[in-house]
Amino acid sequence: MSVQIKRRADYKPPAFLITTVDLHVTLHPTDTRVISTLKVTRQGSHNQPLVLDGDNLPVHKLLIDNAPLAAKSDDNDGYILTDSSLSIPVDKNEFTLYIETSIAPDNNKALEGLYLSGGAYCTQCEAEGFRRITFFLDRPDVLSVYTVTVVGDEKYPMLLSNGNPVDKGQLSDGKHFVKWHDPHPKPCYLFALVAGDFDLLTDSYTTMSGKEVALELYVDKGKKHQGTFALESLKRAMKWDEDVFGLEYDLDIYMIVAVDFFNMGAMENKGLNVFNSKFVLADQDTATDDDFFNVEAVIAHEYFHNWTGNRVTCRDWFQLSLKEGLTVFRDQQFSADMTSELSNRIKHVRVMREHQFSEDASAMSHPIRPDEVIEMNNFYTVTVYDKGAEVIRMFHTLLGVDGFRQGMDEYFRRHDGQAVTCDDFVSAMQSATSLDLSQFSLWYSQSGTPVISVEQQELENGKVQFTLSQRTPKTSDQHDKQPLYMPINIEIIGQGGELYSDNEGVINDGMVILDKESMSFTVDASGNVLTPAVLGNFSAPAKVDNPLSTESLLTIFKHGKDAFNRWDAMQSIYDRCIRELEQSPEASIDENIWVGIRSAISREIDNVELLGECLVIPSFETLCQLRTSVDVAELSKARTEFCHQFAQQLEAALLDVFNSIESKPYSYEQSAVNQRRCKNVVLAHLALLPQYEHLVTEQFEASDNMTDTLGALRSAQFCRKEVFDSLMAKFEQRYNKDPLVLDKWFALHATQPTKDIFATITMLCEHPQFTMSNPNRVRSVIGSFAFYNSEMFHALDGSGYKFVADYLLKLDKLNPQVAARIVTPLTQWQGFASQHQRLMKEQLGRLLNHKGLSKDVFEKVSKSLA
Ligand code: PHE
Ligand code: ZN
Repeated sequence: MSVQIKRRADYKPPAFLITTVDLHVTLHPTDTRVISTLKVTRQGSHNQPLVLDGDNLPVHKLLIDNAPLAAKSDDNDGYILTDSSLSIPVDKNEFTLYIETSIAPDNNKALEGLYLSGGAYCTQCEAEGFRRITFFLDRPDVLSVYTVTVVGDEKYPMLLSNGNPVDKGQLSDGKHFVKWHDPHPKPCYLFALVAGDFDLLTDSYTTMSGKEVALELYVDKGKKHQGTFALESLKRAMKWDEDVFGLEYDLDIYMIVAVDFFNMGAMENKGLNVFNSKFVLADQDTATDDDFFNVEAVIAHEYFHNWTGNRVTCRDWFQLSLKEGLTVFRDQQFSADMTSELSNRIKHVRVMREHQFSEDASAMSHPIRPDEVIEMNNFYTVTVYDKGAEVIRMFHTLLGVDGFRQGMDEYFRRHDGQAVTCDDFVSAMQSATSLDLSQFSLWYSQSGTPVISVEQQELENGKVQFTLSQRTPKTSDQHDKQPLYMPINIEIIGQGGELYSDNEGVINDGMVILDKESMSFTVDASGNVLTPAVLGNFSAPAKVDNPLSTESLLTIFKHGKDAFNRWDAMQSIYDRCIRELEQSPEASIDENIWVGIRSAISREIDNVELLGECLVIPSFETLCQLRTSVDVAELSKARTEFCHQFAQQLEAALLDVFNSIESKPYSYEQSAVNQRRCKNVVLAHLALLPQYEHLVTEQFEASDNMTDTLGALRSAQFCRKEVFDSLMAKFEQRYNKDPLVLDKWFALHATQPTKDIFATITMLCEHPQFTMSNPNRVRSVIGSFAFYNSEMFHALDGSGYKFVADYLLKLDKLNPQVAARIVTPLTQWQGFASQHQRLMKEQLGRLLNHKGLSKDVFEKVSKSLA
């Protein structure tokens, strides 16, 4: 397969600019007509032809300043059309180009460009989807002012595009049109068009300068009541961005459309966001607390892009983290302010440890600003997004709240209306601090997860020397690594909880800077045993190798000031116990640990938020990242055994917690969320003990909300099979008509570690609500299996790997972007034992040899076999 690698270093400014775009789109399922009139200007003096991107588009008509141009032939110098480009010979420096083309949205199952979602037309253009609609300079550094006329028949009463509606009317053939104008120059990836028949929720927001903005939320007919939370979230996000960053909305109207068929979470198209309905629709009966949380976070994320992404955009796609890392950081700060700082931090750190660390350990390892890309869609990664956000968080830590705000103000002052680079962002931040950020910017170019090691050595006269050192293991893309500049939160705690400071004054405000391979400082211990709690609040995206005794970990849990550290200490204790069981499956855990946990529980019984998080056993995926050569059956067995001992040993304490939390009528409000969370975590432990099966069924029957219903269902996975099966059947009957809710049911089935899992999955795929063309369905069945059914996916007869590969071969023909996401677990063979590796590579080999593989899947599979 011949593929083209694009390199960041090869960036060249565009040879032409397009200042205005006039689009005229007449919708039809198999023959949508797109007429585009572009004002083009040559940049600099050169005589190159104008080369536009166009993905398998026909040219029906082409005019330059009203003069027709035909295709090139032997005796005529015309345009040259290929399946990916249109080259137009012109010598004018300024001209108007008219091109007529056509597309078939009904056949578009890749969901990029213009497609049909259910009964509605919608578009997705990021990263390179606009070239599937019309010929264009499809790159983010070409900014144009758009005027768009959408023509459709009466079946589609709502015709939407970016900006403000400026005209509308009836046409003679029974069709109607609406014309839109967006005054803000934008790159084509922010273009959007939607046509359909929706229920509409409206509201308005008055900005800080007194401007009234109309808010419109479009949802499927009959779903209006499920849209109110999203609309309220939008207003909170608008207010927060004004309060925290002084950023105000800049159009008269803000529209959000929820669609069922969507490859990603949502899209920040200027003034017209398109959302996966999963991140809009929410009510007590159908959405869990996590769903509510995610709706608010994604609504905010897309809104925040209006400044970080749209007003200031990316020069090229290698700079994606410029907008995504920054916007994720902003949405995380918003969520923390709206809900709780602690549980937010834990949530995001879990994502880093489960998914980003494994990406960095795989052949897809890349810096937050990648250097090479085959298919851009493959770089919407946890590294670019979440590690990118961690890097922004470090700026925030180093510059402080005021310094960070000053840097942001400067960023907008310099770059509003421009397409810029990560270096431009760093330089704006540099203007707001006296720290030298040059070493810090290595975070943009170096991939891999640094490991911080902590050593303790007793010196004479009661002094203890601490040494922190860093090392970044080589990654598949980069062999040489340099020391990074890392802010490290640190607490030195005595046995009785006393806090110690160092003699040299390198710890400032609980933080040290590690910018070399290693550094040391001393502390006067005067005979006390000291416990260093390092990397509090996950102050840098790193792993920590800190060999602490169980007593020391319990000391951190008991006395640590930082709640995050306390949670983390508990996680380390569990990890340690599981390791013991891996070594000797018959081992029983030291009674002191149970004593420690019991007393922790009774001390924190009123602090349900921390308690709920602390009672979660690290996931299988997180444990994998702390081990090498994982034998899946062995690790699962050890983890399961630990969970059983945990339930048995802590039975009384867990029951106390469960009974102390009273069930109240549902409200989505932080204290209630914390209580439900804690109660459901505890229920899952108790469900391992047969005598508490009734608690599960009782909760299921009594529940007035999806959080508790699903909590009961998840716990039922640990009960007798009959119990699980009967609750699942009831659930399916109740929610048969609601695909978003059924996704939860699909996922629960697909993650059951049962022998007949493939029969189950086949049954799910034949369910009337299942279709391979809907990414949410595919993710909930096949994605859940590959990512989270570790035992069966990694079964040593190779059946799990083969099943996923077989499915991907079919899916790839329809939707390469989603196929390339789901292939991820198969490509991450590095951490597993050789018997797993061999079988995984066998399936990767099958994929690679397949004729007609998409470049999306090709890039990931070929890298992982290289
Ligand atoms: N830009 C979107 C976001 O992060 C993500 C996205 C990328 C959506 C590509 C669709 C396609 O908000
Ligand atoms: Zn984003």
